[in-house]
Amino acid sequence: MAPREIRSPWGHKSGKAVLSHGARQIALTALRLWRKQKRFADSVISGLFANTNFTSSDRAFALELFYGVLRNLTLLDFWIGCLRASRVENGLRDILRLGLYQLFLLKTAEHAAVYETVSLAPKRQQPVINAMLRAATRQRSDLLARAEAQPSFVRTSHPQFLIERWQQHFGAEHAEKLCEWNNLAAPVYARINLLRIERTEFLRIYPKSRPVPDNPTFVEAGSLPSDALKRGHCYIQDPSTTVACHVLDPKPGQKILDACAAPGGKTGYVAQLMENLGTIVACDRDHERLQVLKENMTRLGVSIAQIAQHDWSRGDVASAITASAPFDHILLDAPCTNTGVMRRRVDLKWRLRRTNFDHMQQRQLEIIRGLIPLLKPKGTLVYSTCSLEPEENEEVVRRILAETPDLRLEAERNSLPFREGLDGAYAAKLSRSA
Ligand SMILES: C[S@@+](CC[C@H](N)C(=O)[O-])C[C@H]1O[C@@H](n2cnc3c(N)ncnc32)[C@H](O)[C@@H]1O
Repeated sequence: MAPREIRSPWGHKSGKAVLSHGARQIALTALRLWRKQKRFADSVISGLFANTNFTSSDRAFALELFYGVLRNLTLLDFWIGCLRASRVENGLRDILRLGLYQLFLLKTAEHAAVYETVSLAPKRQQPVINAMLRAATRQRSDLLARAEAQPSFVRTSHPQFLIERWQQHFGAEHAEKLCEWNNLAAPVYARINLLRIERTEFLRIYPKSRPVPDNPTFVEAGSLPSDALKRGHCYIQDPSTTVACHVLDPKPGQKILDACAAPGGKTGYVAQLMENLGTIVACDRDHERLQVLKENMTRLGVSIAQIAQHDWSRGDVASAITASAPFDHILLDAPCTNTGVMRRRVDLKWRLRRTNFDHMQQRQLEIIRGLIPLLKPKGTLVYSTCSLEPEENEEVVRRILAETPDLRLEAERNSLPFREGLDGAYAAKLSRSA
């Protein structure tokens, strides 16, 4: 591979400006930046990619390495501990993690994994890395067997507190399956946008698209040309995101408030269910995300969305929203801890803290309380998250029902990764009495 020059994501030339190992070097740089700067993994790697002229296969390999190491941190560190009893400094550890990931989990040819990884290191570290990776290849079956005998938090590389809470909520077997699921690379799905194109026509002009079993209007996005997205023929989203929209059950001509709408995945689908007739007030507090929503709606041909910026944790409701109130239906796709989509947010498990679930519940309750006065008598409010945690789902709903006597629970649905084989999602439908 030809040497490439990169710039750091912050504009200046990186210390090691010339890359000789392409994808592996980018993955290593990403691991270092992620560890030192504590930024989101996605933003670290996309910042680095923005400064390369990588082909799609270079990118895919760099992503595989970076995300693969992040998914398996505890397991890789367990092997490092088996290979060296003394302290391993962080820079050295990053390189070893990358090497062991290739050797044991990615199953790269041994000589390539060792040689390429050693050559990423500064000269003074090369002998020790070479010795440790060669020892790892010699002890391969022993190291793999020792890993198998470790408790779940090592084998599946998840924080112990998450495993314990999932064992308590779903049982030991499902908790294990969930951890394994979180470590799988997530397929990317696209929803066919029926506002722009019929399904049969879509399948005709994109003959390589692979429909998703049981979800006829979804296809695997990897099989699509980027043109399909640009023309608004489809939108990248997981089939589980439609659960809340189906529970909402909007009809053409109705008035809907999509309270936390950006970047618009559900707004676009709700508009399709409404046949682009009626009104959707699409609200969010984040200006930039609303700009993305606006572009998405234009591309998807959604003409019934009115965009309003509002923060539900602040006092008076914006007039752009009250002007359309009261609403037939309100969708609250709430901010949440995202534990149902961990396979897509690879570093989330290393960021979460025990206290996050209760804090998030307070934010979610605050938002719902601001929405209830905007609901018509006999109207319905759908509360949804992509969290698997009862604090953010059933508990929020029970608390709201307890403090709002004119609300009734009509339906509750959830998608569990180890049961449905899709991202996790929760939706509850609350209806207001006449
Ligand atoms: C789960 S995301 C919404 C995803 C969106 N419904 C979709 O399908 O594409 C949650 C959104 O809530 C917004 N948000 C968080 N707190 C908010 C608040 N207090 N008021 C308004 N919006 C808020 C965030 O900016 C974020 O865009």
